[in-house]
Amino acid sequence: MDDIELIKQKINIVDLISEYLPLKKAGVNFKAPCPFHQEKTPSFMVSPERGIFHCFGCGKSGDIYTFLIEKEGMDFPEALETLAKKAGVVLQRSSNFRSEIKDKKTRLYEVNQKASQFFNYMLTEHKLGKKALEYLKKRGITDKTIKDFNLGYAPNSWESLTKFLKARNFTVEEMSNAGLLIPSAKGGYDRFRGRIMFPLLDTKSQIIGFSGRILGVGEPKYINSPQTIIFDKSNFLFGLNITKGEIKQKNSAILTEGEMDMIMSYQSGVKNVIASKGTALTLGQIELIKKYTDTIILCFDHDLAGDSASRRGIEMADHAGLNIKVIKITDGKDPAELTLKDVSLWEKSVEDAESIYDYYLTSVNSRFKISSAEGKRRIGEELLPIWNKISDPLTFEHYLQKLSALIGIPDEILRKEIKKVKTDSSIPVVFKESGNSLTEIKQVLRVRRDLLEEYLLTLLLKIPSDLTFVPNFPETIFLTENLRSVYVLLVIYLDAISFKAKSFLVADFVKSIPEELVPIVDQLYLREIDDKLSSSKIWKAEIEKMVAELKRALVKASLEKLSADIKSAQAFGKMEVLENLNKKFRDLSVKLKGL
Ligand code: UTP
Ligand code: MN
Repeated sequence: MDDIELIKQKINIVDLISEYLPLKKAGVNFKAPCPFHQEKTPSFMVSPERGIFHCFGCGKSGDIYTFLIEKEGMDFPEALETLAKKAGVVLQRSSNFRSEIKDKKTRLYEVNQKASQFFNYMLTEHKLGKKALEYLKKRGITDKTIKDFNLGYAPNSWESLTKFLKARNFTVEEMSNAGLLIPSAKGGYDRFRGRIMFPLLDTKSQIIGFSGRILGVGEPKYINSPQTIIFDKSNFLFGLNITKGEIKQKNSAILTEGEMDMIMSYQSGVKNVIASKGTALTLGQIELIKKYTDTIILCFDHDLAGDSASRRGIEMADHAGLNIKVIKITDGKDPAELTLKDVSLWEKSVEDAESIYDYYLTSVNSRFKISSAEGKRRIGEELLPIWNKISDPLTFEHYLQKLSALIGIPDEILRKEIKKVKTDSSIPVVFKESGNSLTEIKQVLRVRRDLLEEYLLTLLLKIPSDLTFVPNFPETIFLTENLRSVYVLLVIYLDAISFKAKSFLVADFVKSIPEELVPIVDQLYLREIDDKLSSSKIWKAEIEKMVAELKRALVKASLEKLSADIKSAQAFGKMEVLENLNKKFRDLSVKLKGL
């Protein structure tokens, strides 16, 4: 054990923090009003068992070192020295953290590099990869593209990669830190199994992670590497390492949603393309794009105007000075499909990309009845906040006139209304609006679902001490990838201790899980639950209730998706699909009633 750990074990975080604030006991944890922000009801929690604190109000969290750094304004070496004295530990060396971290990162790049060689070999040479290769061929991917993107296949087995890497002197810890392996009581197993593998490269062409697509249909469609010290999904753009030159040369970047869209566009010859992996634009991604171009052309499946996360991304891009355009594909296909059907159509769609603000105008035009007062009001509600944020004055003026012409309301009136918008712009769009679009409803549902999933896991982590319990509901009720991983590991752990008739210790449990999941477990464990739940009977009943509710929500979400599909099938007159969808809808409705 190193000094840092040793000191952590010797100093009780409750004693340390009690020197600064009055901590009160709250279940297994302690709480107080947060020392880092103003509040009346305490949301600052401390866990002696885990040696950590977290404020649910302002989000500050950490251990004894972080506490001193934040509270006393020390830097890390100072905090270390202070606490070493307190603990009576003589520091062995002034460790060189920077170079240690650098070495750690280098090893992760190396392990990813080796893994990608393994995956690529399995896909292109091995008989286990034959089906995967056929799948890619069926989707129109050429051998050259497989090579260009170094695509691969992860065999459907628990430890083929792990074994391969072990034989090449990589440790379980390194594999787990790279997100390639999920640790378990018995050592660990491959994260990616039975999937087409896409290496994710940064702009220096180092492999920082992977995504894996299932062959054919199934859930989840894609699995991604977790956050690691070298991979952060929100600051990543797929394909940029290959296409940054083209993007600079053409002075525009086409941003698609998925790996396949990016790859197929590249293969078809439209090469200034990147993919965001299904998420709305983040600030990190915008900064990255700005290094190469000032024009971004969005090509997303869903309606960007109806979706608040997309709107926020677009607003940030506008503020960063990017020109934003939108590609519209009329027959409901995504770029991957379109390039196969007709490259010239894809080229033309890119050519015809319109300004984002024209796109917004077209979008409201198709969704609301412009001739009615109600329609005008709702268009105003949706667009004025956006117009209000157009940063360039001339662009603003141009689109104000256009909006005025579209709905037939004089521009002075729109100007007045925009002034009113300014005052309440701090309210998150998603909660503010009444005329919710489907995507927004889904987002709300998703937030609520996340809360339920988190609550269920919190309950499981606070299992009453007199109870031996191994949950047996399917992991698939957790839609959130990280929570699902925690759940799976928890089941494995509970199963192991139930044999030994040991009781559950959270500090023991976290030792068996990957580093990146520890903060998640900590946050969940620090939540307060009702005192009544210390009774095993009430606790069990609560667990059952939550599981049932999550199952119901899952079916409901599928129904929602189906009804959207049904609407679109009706709109495009696809009768044969419609019948099938309607049947599915009826079956699911019956299932929902039964739950
Ligand atoms: P889509 O569901 O639109 O998939 O998700 P796609 O890009 O059309 O994929 P194909 O053509 O069916 O293979 C868009 C992107 O969102 C991310 C992936 O990067 C995907 O390409 N995604 C999707 C995930 O990360 N996880 C998922 O479960 C689904
Ligand atoms: Mn697709």
